[in-house]
Amino acid sequence: MLNIVLFGPPGAGKGTQSERLIEKFNLVHLSTGDIFRYNIKGETELGVLAKSYIDKGQLVPDEVTINMLRSEVLKNESAKGFIFDGFPRTNAQAEALDTFLGELNSSITLMAALEVEENELKERLKKRAEVSGRSDDADPEIIANRIQVYKNETAPVKEFYQKQNKFISIDGVGSIDDITNRLFDAITKF
Ligand code: AP5
Ligand code: MG
Repeated sequence: MLNIVLFGPPGAGKGTQSERLIEKFNLVHLSTGDIFRYNIKGETELGVLAKSYIDKGQLVPDEVTINMLRSEVLKNESAKGFIFDGFPRTNAQAEALDTFLGELNSSITLMAALEVEENELKERLKKRAEVSGRSDDADPEIIANRIQVYKNETAPVKEFYQKQNKFISIDGVGSIDDITNRLFDAITKF
């Protein structure tokens, strides 16, 4: 299996690049943010719970997120591999991911982190707010909070993969095509 963690702050391009990488490598795309939004739309119990955190730009509790992701992986047991977009976001999530991929006799191949500076992130998200309908894009203060939560709780997850020599850093600024090529080259060479 080829299992990629596509990592980066809010607005780094995780969703945009995942769409392209799943085609190139024939992988299943699992975006925890997209799954939460699907549940919010369907007004499920999970959606109602997730909304109370997402609307503030906070993380949904680990236990809820981990159980949800585990069940999505198990639904796709025969996949050639996965792109994890927006997961893991805490060290506890990274440890849980290792454990349940291990149960499938598999593991994370690499983490690719898209590096984009803060002003560019805010610009991208402000622009997307005009069309996305995402409640967490609507208010610059919530965007700022998402970036702060990323710095405090999520950025340290890089070290988890650095220690395992599975970390690559990708310049996330430039045209969408150029960034896809950078990712493709780095993943193929890894
Ligand atoms: P999530 O849905 O994961 O959102 P996010 O991390 O804030 O990131 P985005 O989806 O906003 O950005 P992206 O990196 O995908 O960039 P995109 O390609 O869209 O999470 C939302 C919330 O759900 C969290 O805040 C949390 O509450 C909860 N959640 C999710 N996962 C969780 C977890 N594991 N644990 C706990 N809670 C969790 O691009 C952004 C914009 O920029 C787009 O408009 C795009 O067109 C544009 N763009 C892309 N590339 C470029 C480029 N190269 N140049 C210019 N513009 C570009
Ligand atoms: Mg996204």
